[in-house]
Amino acid sequence: MFDFVKSTVGRKYIMGISGLVWMGFVLSHMAGNMLILVSPDLYNAYGHAIVSNKPLLYGAESVLVLALIVHVTTAISLTIENRKAKGSRYAVSASGEKASTLASRTMGMQGSVVLAFIILHLATFKYGTHYDTVVNGVQMRDLHRLIGEVFQQPGYVLWYVVALILLMFHLSHGASSIFQSFGFLERKMQKGLRKFAWTYAIIVVAGFLSQPAYVYLLRGK
Ligand code: HEM
Repeated sequence: MFDFVKSTVGRKYIMGISGLVWMGFVLSHMAGNMLILVSPDLYNAYGHAIVSNKPLLYGAESVLVLALIVHVTTAISLTIENRKAKGSRYAVSASGEKASTLASRTMGMQGSVVLAFIILHLATFKYGTHYDTVVNGVQMRDLHRLIGEVFQQPGYVLWYVVALILLMFHLSHGASSIFQSFGFLERKMQKGLRKFAWTYAIIVVAGFLSQPAYVYLLRGK
């Protein structure tokens, strides 16, 4: 078992499973955040409901942190090994269908930007200014106001656009690689899978992009 986890294939499974955890999270985070466009009270009540359910919150946060640590450390170990292999005389460059795309060759760079994004994002929102509001007689955090303030700043919006576009490439390539490393794919299914991966990545990122775009362009302050 331990040998499998240490093997290259085993580590690719680990990358896939930890990536799947985050794929589920970003889809649901994007969907919930669409309430930003619907109503401030509804969005704040939604955020309040999540943070009030402590077992759910701490459970989900622990799984996310663990998956992120495992994903990043496994990616680093695979990259180091890959670099060593490239230096050896067994290294070959693929061509034709197997040739790597720019998106796949820059997974490490995209991942690093996304990681920096997540850290800054948590500092801005989760641990950012705490405004209060009252919705239906219940006092809660006014996250909608904070989002309104942050996305009035053009520099912030630009950074989100750049990071989210990189996230789109990372998700689309990651999503199609997961199932390839699970190995149940026949050749003809691979094309369909790539389509699914791109559709998923575009839906997630277009949804996320609509949120700062709505605040910056339409809502004003
Ligand atoms: C433009 C789109 C986004 C908006 C408006 C947004 C908004 C927010 C807000 C307001 C919070 C704080 C929630 C709270 O403390 O109750 C939050 C938390 C979080 N966001 Fe985002 N987010 C966006 C995109 C993303 C993306 C793309 C990722 C990941 C790649 C992400 C990952 C997270 C994580 C991990 C948390 C912490 C969850 C927790 O610990 O409870 N967000 N986001």
